[in-house]
Amino acid sequence: MSLYSFFKSKGKNGFGYATTAEQVTSGISLDGKTILITGCNSGLGKETARVLAMRGARIFATARTKENADQVCNEIGHDSIGFACELSDPKSVRECISSVKKETKKIDVIICNAGIMALAKLQQSHGYELQFFTNHIGHFILVNGLLKLLADDGRIVVLSSGAHVMAPESGIDFDNLDGKKSYSPWKAYGQSKMANLLFVKELSRSLERTSKTANAVHPGVISTNIGRHMNPVANFAFSLIAPLGFKSVAQGAATTCYAAVHPELNNVSGKYLADCNIAKSRDDADDVDLAQKLWKKSEEIAAKLK
Ligand SMILES: NC(=O)c1ccc[n+]([C@@H]2O[C@H](COP(=O)([O-])OP(=O)(O)OC[C@H]3O[C@@H](n4cnc5c(N)ncnc54)[C@H](OP(=O)(O)O)[C@@H]3O)[C@@H](O)[C@H]2O)c1
Repeated sequence: MSLYSFFKSKGKNGFGYATTAEQVTSGISLDGKTILITGCNSGLGKETARVLAMRGARIFATARTKENADQVCNEIGHDSIGFACELSDPKSVRECISSVKKETKKIDVIICNAGIMALAKLQQSHGYELQFFTNHIGHFILVNGLLKLLADDGRIVVLSSGAHVMAPESGIDFDNLDGKKSYSPWKAYGQSKMANLLFVKELSRSLERTSKTANAVHPGVISTNIGRHMNPVANFAFSLIAPLGFKSVAQGAATTCYAAVHPELNNVSGKYLADCNIAKSRDDADDVDLAQKLWKKSEEIAAKLK
């Protein structure tokens, strides 16, 4: 636990910065629930899978490769199935959707957890900046492909980040989705995390007449493998300050687990959550027109890559 934990207060619900995934799910039975989690082989995804399995959920664990996903399933030692889902490759995402559909007719929760952060140099997939493509487009295709399987009271949880505030002023720079005009590692990460928020906004709007929900999460700042693509100097600095101000992985997975299964959030949708409570995002993350514009663009990109 970091020193910082001692200075942070709890929300009205008694949960806060220092709450762990085990604490926030204490007493909740997930028997009979199926929960799909992307990026299960590392950091927050792995802890989320472990704790939700511990509460009785059947876990659909996805990773870039089937081997990595299966390894997590072996570690979970519960009812779990591994799937390959390379989010930067629409073919792999669509194969994952088909494989999941062969296994089940119903999913209770989809957790879009996988992500990459602050790539030191511009990288692309299919002509799009890689963080935008992996963190947003990959999950956009996955969720839309699985939406019909979502239970009547099903939930979508998308890992965004407080770093969404670093997105361009316009929210999404639609004229620079390939990153060629200009590239800044943190601005591009911020844009991808802003895209996660706008995706949740529009998704929750489309689910309005149902009991299905979609919410976004800032997990906190946690020392996981997320820094691996950063400039090595920045990554080193990140690791030095980690013990002072960062959450543990157990604390980092708490808000995701809260969003995924806590009864307090039944019928709560379109929200940004942090420290296991509703939080405030940048104002333009609530911009309906921007969210619809991104949705349309994402549909176009997905359709083009069939
Ligand atoms: N840690 C933090 O401080 C922090 C703060 C705010 C938000 N977040 C968000 O929390 C989420 C989880 O991050 P983490 O801290 O647990 O990081 P992590 O330890 O690096 O885990 C990220 C996971 O995403 C997977 N992934 C990356 N690229 C992928 C791709 N193209 N296709 C499929 N899977 C891919 C990774 O797989 P490989 O291991 O195979 O690469 C890994 O399983 C991310 O969305 C991140 O943006 C983290």
